[in-house]
Amino acid sequence: MSEIERVGVVGAGLMGSGIAEVCARADLDVLVCEQDAETARVGRERIRASLERGVRRGKLTAREREAAESRLRFTSDADDLADRQLVVEAVVEREDVKMGVFEVLDKVVEDPDAIIASNTSSIPIMKLAMATGRAGNVIGLHFFNPVPVLPLVEVVTSLLTRTGTRDRAEAFVTRVLGKQIIRSTDRAGFVVNSLLVPYLLSAIRMVESGFASASDVDDGMVLGCAHPMGPLRLADLIGLDTVQAIAESMYAEFKEPLHSPPPLLLRMVEAGLLGEKSGRGFHTYP
Ligand code: CAA
Ligand code: NAD
Repeated sequence: MSEIERVGVVGAGLMGSGIAEVCARADLDVLVCEQDAETARVGRERIRASLERGVRRGKLTAREREAAESRLRFTSDADDLADRQLVVEAVVEREDVKMGVFEVLDKVVEDPDAIIASNTSSIPIMKLAMATGRAGNVIGLHFFNPVPVLPLVEVVTSLLTRTGTRDRAEAFVTRVLGKQIIRSTDRAGFVVNSLLVPYLLSAIRMVESGFASASDVDDGMVLGCAHPMGPLRLADLIGLDTVQAIAESMYAEFKEPLHSPPPLLLRMVEAGLLGEKSGRGFHTYP
């Protein structure tokens, strides 16, 4: 089986742009598929800014940044993904939207050995795999935000993922991207979000009930437990719409009150207060 050199990324939001960036930095040919030219432009700008930050922080040279940019192409036509050997889906955390993407990928990706991966935070991989006629090639590759900085990828196999698909995906993530993996079975939320999301929702409930302010909750966890950021600042980084979507898919699977999104979270999302990406969430951003 040939080495993975041609990668597709579907969705260039917070995560898709980070995944595309690390793939381009690993010398791969990267084609990013977004909904339209404007969303592609925003994704490209996000990658440019991150590469620039990487140069400022001494993580790559100006020449390496230019080389990475030259390896990135953008399209809004999914047919262009036909020759990809690995496609990572990173569209919004909605089962219906992701299933539509998987149906399209199944039709357009020509290589029968191509790996079709999802960066979903919580949706069981089996649901996405069954939207294709090649469930054995479908796997979860769950990156963490910010992708260029955090070393982890959770590898999620469904009951039908072939062992060969898993081995090839794991070799790609560790040897080519230089990331570390943990393995998870196919349960909504996987390993990390099963622990993280109830914690974030508890923090939101503390603010909702007037127990403590957002700043005091965050300072408590940063100064008292040495977390790099507090839970409300982290929820703002992830995106409150995404936190809600993850909580809902975990609640749908387990029916546990600890996964139920608190009303304050729902109201903030309805109000468009999505966190850092909209300028305001539990905190405000310039
Ligand atoms: N490219 C490469 N490296 C970069 C970079 C870039 N674009 N931007 C920053 N870095 C490097 C910096 O050089 C620095 O490295 P050194 O320590 O070696 O110098 C490091 O990354 C930290 O960068 P900063 O100093 O700019 O930022 P910071 O110290 O304020 O940290 C943060 C920012 C990395 C976001 C940190 O606050 C953090 O890790 N927060 C927690 C994030 C987290 O928990 N993410 C998981 C979210 S949950 C998820 O992702 C799963 C899900 O399904 C929702
Ligand atoms: P986001 O809202 O920032 O980006 C989603 C992007 O998908 C948007 O740019 C949108 O235009 C695009 N999109 C929607 N439908 C599309 C389609 N049919 N074809 C092409 N592009 C399409 O979301 P995000 O935070 O990047 O999350 C993406 C995925 O990654 C979700 O499954 C999320 O759960 C997961 N994830 C998010 C985080 C996080 O911290 N935000 C961390 C890990 C995993």
